[in-house]
Formats: sequence, C-alpha cells, structure tokens
Amino acid sequence: MSRDHVSHGEIAQFAANRVNLPKVKANEYRAQAGRLREKLETYLHEHPDFTLRKMLLSGSLAKGTALGSLNDIDVACYVSGAEVPTDIDALLNYIAERLRKAFPNFSSDQVQPQTYSVTVSFRGSGLDVDVVPILYFGDLQWYGNLVSQDDGSFLKTSIPLHLEFAVKRKKAQEKHFAQVVRIVKYWARRMKLEQEGFRFKSFMIEMILAKLCDDGLDFSDYPEALQHFFTYVARTDLRERIVFSDYYKPSALGAFSDQVQIVDPVNAENNVARLYTAENADAIVDAALDAGDAIDAALGAPTKQLTVAYWQKVFGSAFHA
Ligand SMILES: Nc1ncnc2c1ncn2[C@@H]1O[C@H](COP(=O)(O)OP(=O)(O)OP(=O)(O)O)[C@@H](O)[C@H]1O
Ligand SMILES: [Mg+2]
Repeated sequence: MSRDHVSHGEIAQFAANRVNLPKVKANEYRAQAGRLREKLETYLHEHPDFTLRKMLLSGSLAKGTALGSLNDIDVACYVSGAEVPTDIDALLNYIAERLRKAFPNFSSDQVQPQTYSVTVSFRGSGLDVDVVPILYFGDLQWYGNLVSQDDGSFLKTSIPLHLEFAVKRKKAQEKHFAQVVRIVKYWARRMKLEQEGFRFKSFMIEMILAKLCDDGLDFSDYPEALQHFFTYVARTDLRERIVFSDYYKPSALGAFSDQVQIVDPVNAENNVARLYTAENADAIVDAALDAGDAIDAALGAPTKQLTVAYWQKVFGSAFHA
C-alpha cells in the first residue's frame, strides 16, 4: 500500500477536525442532561410515588461516539406504574405532562411530545433533550420496553448493558474503536444525504465494528480498519448473522427470517436490523463496495491530488489532507 499522500495520520486529523463532536461540546451536553436528571431525582425524593423513575443519558453522547453534527441529546426515561398508558400517543402525552410537573420552571411549550419521544427544549444555549420512554417493571439490570425511534414499537432491552458492551470494546482498542465508529457513521451520514432512501442505523454500524473488534481486527490504522469494514459488508452481502456471547449463548438463538440479522447483544430475541429490506441492504453493500474501491485507489494513487480526490469519494469535499 502506498501511503505517501494520505495515511493514518491524515485520516485521524480529518476525524478530529471534521467528524468528531469537540470534547468541550460533549461535556457541555452531558452536563445539560445531568442537570435534568438531578432535577428529576430531587422531585422523586419529595414524591417517592412519582412514576418517572429515572433519566439516563443514552445513545452516542453516552458512548463517546457522537458526531459534530449531533442535533439532540438522547435521554432514556424509565416509567412504571399501573396507570401508565401503553398506547404510544397516550404514553408520550402522559410523560410530557409528568415532565412538566417535575420541571415547573419550564414553560409547557418547552416540553413537547413528538412522534416517538418527548423533547425538552432549552431557551438560549444547548441542544434539545430527546426523552425516549422505557416501560420499566423493576428489573435490576434495567431491562425494560424501549420505544423504538424507528417505528414506535416496544423493544425489550437494557441501556446500561448496552453501555457496558460498548465500554468493553472501547477498552479493548482504546481511542480507536470509538474513532472508527465515528468515521463510519460520518460516511453513512453522507450517504444518507446523497442517496434518497439510504438507511444505515448507527447502532448497526457499531455492532458490525464490535464484531470485527472481537474477531481481532486492529483498529489503530484507520485506512486499514475502514477498508476491513467495507470489505466485510461487501463480502457478506450484509446477510451474515451477527451475534455476541456477552449476555446469552448464541446457540440459544431462535430463528429469524429477516434479511439482515444483527442481534441485540443484550436480548437474543431482538433483531436490531429487523426493519431492513433487501433493497436497504443492497444499497449499503453497493455503497460499501464503492467506498472500498475508492480507498484501494487512494492507497495506490500516484499523486497527492488524485489521492485526495479518491478519499473525497468516501468522505465528500470536506476531506482535505
Ligand atoms: N433496535 C434497537 N434495539 C435495542 N436497542 C436499540 C435499538 N436501536 C437503538 N437502541 C438503543 O438506542 C441507542 C441509540 O441508538 P442509535 O442507533 O440512535 O445510535 P447513536 O449511538 O445514538 O447514534 P447517533 O449519533 O446516530 O444518534 C443504542 O445505543 C441502543 O442502546
Ligand atoms: Mg442517538
């Protein structure tokens, strides 16, 4: 591989400048979510029967995999009680009404039900907080029924165990695992902007990379790690089942008939890629083939200008070296 023009260092620099959410911003947003959580805790202290049990930072901000383009702060909210509605619209209204009770200094229009979540908007600085409900029945590992942000269905899962799962891979390849997740998410985001109907959920990207990590791929060279990711997707046609043994025995797995099978590492019955059609999968495979070819060409290109042009096929014109 010729790396005279663009090598690991240049990709790392691009990620630092263009891909990642700056650390000060991440800390600011985490603190913002933390203040909401504390407010709820204070309220709960005075009203122990309150049905909103806990708020927990979830998603990319919790995992250290957020992009600079992040536009809301994901917070999971555990709800329990006999009177909690299970109809999604009623549930969201119910949560909005409870949040207004717990946060009386927010005006009522700052707390608004959306399609599958409730947003809490802050005046002035900060991002909106996206409160995602989890119906909770007291499980000690915080399993509950999470409202899917894709279709509003209830998914049995555990956010704290997802975080633990991610921490394990982040520790195995410090800095690099999370960085490669962010770079691939950046690529996928660009594909979504470019191609109508293109979808590739962040959680799926993270699980594919976790599998490559568990298989022993070294993430410390970014061009190489990216090339492996794209090659994996292309080689398997995204039709190879991905399953982990952290929290259950893969042999105990039931049959899925879905095109793409990426099983939730904390619930053997939940296929994270359930909604992906053959067309969705084929579009991802085609895009991965293109990206893989472009990286190959970049690594063999004779001039800097050509090399950069190939990398721009992967990352767009924002890429400079
Ligand atoms: N289908 C699913 N089954 C179980 N848990 C899910 C599922 N989809 C999302 N989650 C949970 O929600 C979290 C956020 O998922 P999402 O795909 O939005 O990724 P993200 O890391 O927040 O990335 P982004 O920066 O794109 O928002 C995951 O870490 C996981 O805990
Ligand atoms: Mg998210």
